[in-house]
Amino acid sequence: MLSQSALSRIDRELTKYPSDQKQSAVMSALAIAQDEHPHLTTEVLDAVAAYLGMAPIAVYEVATFYTMYDLEPVGKHKLCICTNLPCVLSGAGEAAAHLKKKLGIDFGGTTADGKFTLKEGECFGACGDAPVVLHNNKKMLVEMSPEKIDALLTELSR
Ligand code: FES
Repeated sequence: MLSQSALSRIDRELTKYPSDQKQSAVMSALAIAQDEHPHLTTEVLDAVAAYLGMAPIAVYEVATFYTMYDLEPVGKHKLCICTNLPCVLSGAGEAAAHLKKKLGIDFGGTTADGKFTLKEGECFGACGDAPVVLHNNKKMLVEMSPEKIDALLTELSR
């Protein structure tokens, strides 16, 4: 369920914590698992739990709490926009509405061609650069005006 490469990466994360605190690496382990699976199925979550010696329910709790973990299939490009108050005060509401309109989907939706999934996120710690969009959990895009959103969608659609 988890490749040797993924297990090696998780092992590296485990070195950051005391050996009796393996569960501390659960967020990293889930991110690593998600790198090699399109989304986190129950089987993948169970494999992470088994590797870290955790109760599966404890892993499910983490995976269902954070928006960066995908428990359902997502599009090729997952765009997650922060809609917390500081960002909304700096235009995130308009940016989110623009994304929804351009993509023709609501939060949680995926375009019919499977290219884009739109999600709503919690504070990414970049409030001063709002509106903030996270692309596929890895790349943070800041000051996302409608013009920048249009340019991004054009670039990602190629
Ligand atoms: S509130 Fe949006 S990044 Fe902090």
